[in-house]
Amino acid sequence: SNPTLLILAGDGIGPEVMNEVKRIITWYGDKRDMPFDISEDLVGGCAYDKHGTPLHDDTMAKAQEVDAVLLGAVGGPKYDDLDFSVKPERGLLRLRKEMDLFSNLRPAQCFDALADFSSLKRDIVAGLDIMIVRELTSGVYFGEPRGIHLEGNERVGINTQRYTESEIARVARSAFELARRRSNRVCSMEKANVMESGVLWRQVVTEIHEKEYADVELSHMYADNGAMQLVRNPKQFDVIVTDNLFGDLLSDAAAMLTGSLGMLPSASLGLPMANGRPKALYEPVHGSAPDITGQGKANPIACILSFAMALRYSFDAGAEADRLEAAVEQVLADGARTADLLGPEGGSPISTTQMGDAILAALDAS
Ligand code: NAI
Ligand code: MG
Repeated sequence: SNPTLLILAGDGIGPEVMNEVKRIITWYGDKRDMPFDISEDLVGGCAYDKHGTPLHDDTMAKAQEVDAVLLGAVGGPKYDDLDFSVKPERGLLRLRKEMDLFSNLRPAQCFDALADFSSLKRDIVAGLDIMIVRELTSGVYFGEPRGIHLEGNERVGINTQRYTESEIARVARSAFELARRRSNRVCSMEKANVMESGVLWRQVVTEIHEKEYADVELSHMYADNGAMQLVRNPKQFDVIVTDNLFGDLLSDAAAMLTGSLGMLPSASLGLPMANGRPKALYEPVHGSAPDITGQGKANPIACILSFAMALRYSFDAGAEADRLEAAVEQVLADGARTADLLGPEGGSPISTTQMGDAILAALDAS
């Protein structure tokens, strides 16, 4: 039977960029004999409008069964005043939590044609290709105790950074596995100098490395130095593995090494299912971009590269992922630019659909 995909296009530009991905999925079925069984459903504000909840139980159940979920984006001004419990983002958080997607992959890759967009000088970023692996389901965002309470006559805000050995081990394994498919190097970042959870993090990563991945080159770095090194000389890294909080900050910083938000894909992976594939959700890093919704201006590349990650990490089709990434690189080299990719000197932008057309044409020529 064909591999299964659940498409949750969501709100705002989500459906616009996902349309281009659907055409690419169809292309793979027609031209590469890789048919997918696709189902579509609602997430976020559109699900709230229909069901009164940002993620219906039936949708959640479907997400648990498919080989991979592709998500567009959620949210928008229309939903800003909703109660926290039904906010669009809650749909996304529920997916991550119930699918137990503990390993968040955020590539920072710099396409040569866009190197001048980086916040850094061209020679520091041209050809950059690193992967940040962020632990996504534990750490200070979830640890107990938490809350705000009174101590004497003043308020105290409390969060707890808590990591179990097994939580560290599983995200470390996912980073080592990735490194083996790339340049075979992992840099683990924490603050073992000031945090107990950091001491344990370093111990567990070191143990897993010695026992199971001695062939991979491992280094350790304090996360604050890591932030500095990322903007000083990012090409020194291959895979970076770090906790939830540091990963949030470091991956956003790394993102800006590469230019536009419209270019950034991500994957969130969990444990292997019965068929050996990991639980998986693929989505662009950007949001629903209400300021450009409905105008045909959205850059579909982040969502398209997210599908390339699905080909690589869920469907064992690395060569086909390479083909799609090369098609994107080709159209950029040929000068195709959505509005977000035009520099201060301007130029004439193409539409979302025209960018999709160009990538399909490059695929045809590949
Ligand atoms: P945003 O990512 O939606 O937009 C930030 C800026 O980048 C805007 O100027 C937008 O036009 C531009 N942009 C984003 N994606 C683009 C693309 N593909 N092509 C061209 N330009 C693009 O972040 P913002 O404005 O902070 O949030 C808007 C809404 O999206 C909010 O409701 C927020 O909660 C939600 N959001 C959802 C996320 C998700 O679904 N994972 C992530 C971030 C925000
Ligand atoms: Mg962030």
